[in-house]
Amino acid sequence: MTRAHITAVTSGKGGVGKTFLTANLAAALTRAGERVLVLDADLGLANLDVVLGLHPKITLHDVFTGNHKLERAIIEAPGGFDCLLAGSGMVEYSRLTPEVRDQLVQVIATLRPRYDRILLDTGAGISDVVLYTISLADDVIVVATPEPTSMTDAYATIKVLTTTQGRRGVQLVVNQVGQAGEGQVIRNQLQQVVDRYVAPAVGHAVRLHMVGEVAADSSVREAVRRRQLLLESLPGSAAAQGVQAIAQRLTALAAVA
Ligand SMILES: Nc1ncnc2c1ncn2[C@@H]1O[C@H](COP(=O)(O)OP(=O)(O)OP(=O)(O)O)[C@@H](O)[C@H]1O
Ligand SMILES: [Mg+2]
Repeated sequence: MTRAHITAVTSGKGGVGKTFLTANLAAALTRAGERVLVLDADLGLANLDVVLGLHPKITLHDVFTGNHKLERAIIEAPGGFDCLLAGSGMVEYSRLTPEVRDQLVQVIATLRPRYDRILLDTGAGISDVVLYTISLADDVIVVATPEPTSMTDAYATIKVLTTTQGRRGVQLVVNQVGQAGEGQVIRNQLQQVVDRYVAPAVGHAVRLHMVGEVAADSSVREAVRRRQLLLESLPGSAAAQGVQAIAQRLTALAAVA
């Protein structure tokens, strides 16, 4: 029996491109032959449906409240992967309650045997809902952009994840880079700060694994505006190629794990 590898996609600062990246990564991994499920884990402020151009009738909220069976909330996305959408504006998910916790655990436990990989598109920041969702994942991709505020917030997220979850490494994607190689520079800067301030505090090395960079590219906005996957509508764009390269690295990592 397979057991999906669970990857959380998160960020310190909001609006850096988590949902765009998650949806397009899912499409790329599906093409590579993986059975993929994306769970919109940004429970209160979901927007995966917008990026995918879907209008779900039944959401995770209906599953949590017992109104519908889990199976009915799973929809096939345009990229051929499955997704579970959350529904937006639900204030009850701004806090982590024992009910939300149990429901999330149960949904994931039920679905895990059916997929090779589950991607959790989380909210930004370090709220208890976000941190709890990430704690359910085998590994975590932190998305940052070259903006100083995004880097500071990425650092804060990495610090919290390593101190509260004992993680020895996180994966890093730098989105919206202005030129090739900028992602690696950002990764090195973040690694230096982590080595200096986080590693001594937790008593072990914490490694930032660079999984890739994605160019700042007007095609992304265009695809989101069209409610289409970038990989399908503008596959030759620089950003689409960046996402493909990240998917290849993730499948290579899964092969050695
Ligand atoms: N590589 C890129 N180049 C240009 N624009 C981008 C890129 N990545 C993301 N964007 C823009 O940023 C917007 C926000 O992206 P997205 O919704 O994926 O961010 P998010 O991190 O999921 O936000 P939130 O924290 O609100 O969940 C997109 O709609 C798009 O316009
Ligand atoms: Mg999002």
